[in-house]
Amino acid sequence: MCGIVGYIGHREAYPIVLKGLQRLEYRGYDSAGIALYDDKELKVSKTKGKVADLKAKMESELDNTSGTLGIGHTRWATHGVPNDVNSHPHLSNSGDLVIIHNGIIENYESLKKELTKRGYKFESDTDTEVLVNLIEDVIVKEGVKLGKAVQIALNQTVGAYAIAVFDKKKPNEIVVARLGSPLAIGVGKDEYFIASDASPFIEFTNNAIYLEDGEMAVVRRSKGVKVRKIHDDSLVDPYVQELQLNLEQIEKNNFDHFMLKEIYEQPNAIKDTYRGRLHAEEGIIRMAGIDDNLERFLNARRIVIVACGTSWHAGLVAEYIFEDLARIPVEVEYASEFRYRNPIINSDDVVIAISQSGETADTMAAIKLAKEKGAFVFGVCNVVGSSISRETNAGAYTHAGPEIGVASTKAFTTQITVLTLIALKLAKAKGSMSNTDFHMHLQELETIPQKIELALEANDHIKEVAFKYKDARNCLYLGRGFNFPVALEGALKLKEISYIHAEGYPAAEMKHGPIALIDEEMPVVVIATRKGHYEKVVSNIQEIKSRQGKIIGIVTEGDTSVRELADHVIEVPDTIESLTPLITTIPLQLLSYHIAVMLGKNVDQPRNLAKSVTVE
Ligand code: F6R
Repeated sequence: MCGIVGYIGHREAYPIVLKGLQRLEYRGYDSAGIALYDDKELKVSKTKGKVADLKAKMESELDNTSGTLGIGHTRWATHGVPNDVNSHPHLSNSGDLVIIHNGIIENYESLKKELTKRGYKFESDTDTEVLVNLIEDVIVKEGVKLGKAVQIALNQTVGAYAIAVFDKKKPNEIVVARLGSPLAIGVGKDEYFIASDASPFIEFTNNAIYLEDGEMAVVRRSKGVKVRKIHDDSLVDPYVQELQLNLEQIEKNNFDHFMLKEIYEQPNAIKDTYRGRLHAEEGIIRMAGIDDNLERFLNARRIVIVACGTSWHAGLVAEYIFEDLARIPVEVEYASEFRYRNPIINSDDVVIAISQSGETADTMAAIKLAKEKGAFVFGVCNVVGSSISRETNAGAYTHAGPEIGVASTKAFTTQITVLTLIALKLAKAKGSMSNTDFHMHLQELETIPQKIELALEANDHIKEVAFKYKDARNCLYLGRGFNFPVALEGALKLKEISYIHAEGYPAAEMKHGPIALIDEEMPVVVIATRKGHYEKVVSNIQEIKSRQGKIIGIVTEGDTSVRELADHVIEVPDTIESLTPLITTIPLQLLSYHIAVMLGKNVDQPRNLAKSVTVE
């Protein structure tokens, strides 16, 4: 939901800010803008479209792009349609203050009314232009410095924000603040970088300060960073963190798209997820977040999982795994529904929040609600230091590395891996699994990366299947048991990047309605691996076949029964039933990817979407 970037120091700001915006484009990409200051002149350029359009505009319109102070923004529209005027940065009425903003100011209308009465004029439909004029109004009325004015103004707002603002008359400082949207400050030698995540500055510095919610900072050229609490002005000693990120992780390398790179990264990502945790030989799982809170988990009346989108699908897989292996009742909730329906939560419930970005607004709100009601909340996040990882009582990172393609792939399989480790650990502690079964699961989990490598070898064949169905208008995905959530995830992947309408169903639900959709035009992807309800799924396939549906079967290697019935089969290696989702997901990701590429869609930045949804 919008990416923000800034630089103040001794280098030229333009290339740093521009490159930073390209790296943050996954957060929003309907418009972009940059402001530069070079001691004489303020240059602001903004446009509807991508960062590439902004670059072309700036380089054709501006005489020069010089300046050692710069801020930039890539937008996912909330208030006001994507157009040049609504793009950030926004200027105050005097033209002195320049701001970029990620988030929403909910009370902007009343603030706007008040400022309009006092003579302020607004060009755009955005809440951000209201905020920058509110800051200006405070400076004029109270005669305070920029930092203080930002603080006073923010204390009058309701909403979420990460902002960076500077005054062209005082070009040696940028003021930043955060509430609900992430903001990192890269600390270099006599230079500072500002960004929504660390990717824009990783080649310049490994040191970063992550502002906490409710904090602001005055970042002064060569003079350091002063952090304060917004609500009471108290000074905070900033913690400078050493980053683990490296450049290779955020580049496409030889892949055409980040999504494809991330699909292929899954074997290693899963190894990174279980490294140091899974000790198959000794029959041990080590997870500090669980070990330290084992009693809470073992005494839990139930586990409630809250998440959105793909992470919610990982939660559904976990429901099957936890109930089957650890015999703990599980409920899986859309975070957006949970937070608004007065849910019954008790102090003996354990809530697990799953989020790749660790920033999703609805999941965050669900966590706060569950904590208020006394539940213990455990986070499963990918982004280290993210808001959700900090808000939860304990947690386990997925260690998937940066996921940049907007469609989630490796986040999903690594979330399932973490949740499987937790379920196995609890099962062992509760004695709900035999020792032999437990050891077998550990050993099998260790083989999953290699099996995913084998599943990826079907890529060329999957591409041929994709070519046959790329012009379909609709598509059904069916699965049963552990693979029902995989069917939902397969359908989500197809619709979000190819814009083909797709639905996932439990295979047996077909005859309760969706079967009416089947005709010779309808491709139906059926997950029909040999483990778990195999015969029943084969019967479901027969029902589709007799209505002329086109069947794409995801089958275990060597399968013959489905091959006889299906139009196409895609083979995957065999594994135990509870681990099949980690493998059956792979061909579905590749199928969506190839269809979207063949249709000429922007796979990494599908329309209307953004990677981290920090608004509700
Ligand atoms: C789908 C996708 C989204 C996210 C959802 C939750 O490919 O990426 O559905 O899964 O927005 O995001 P996180 O996991 O960051 O909370």
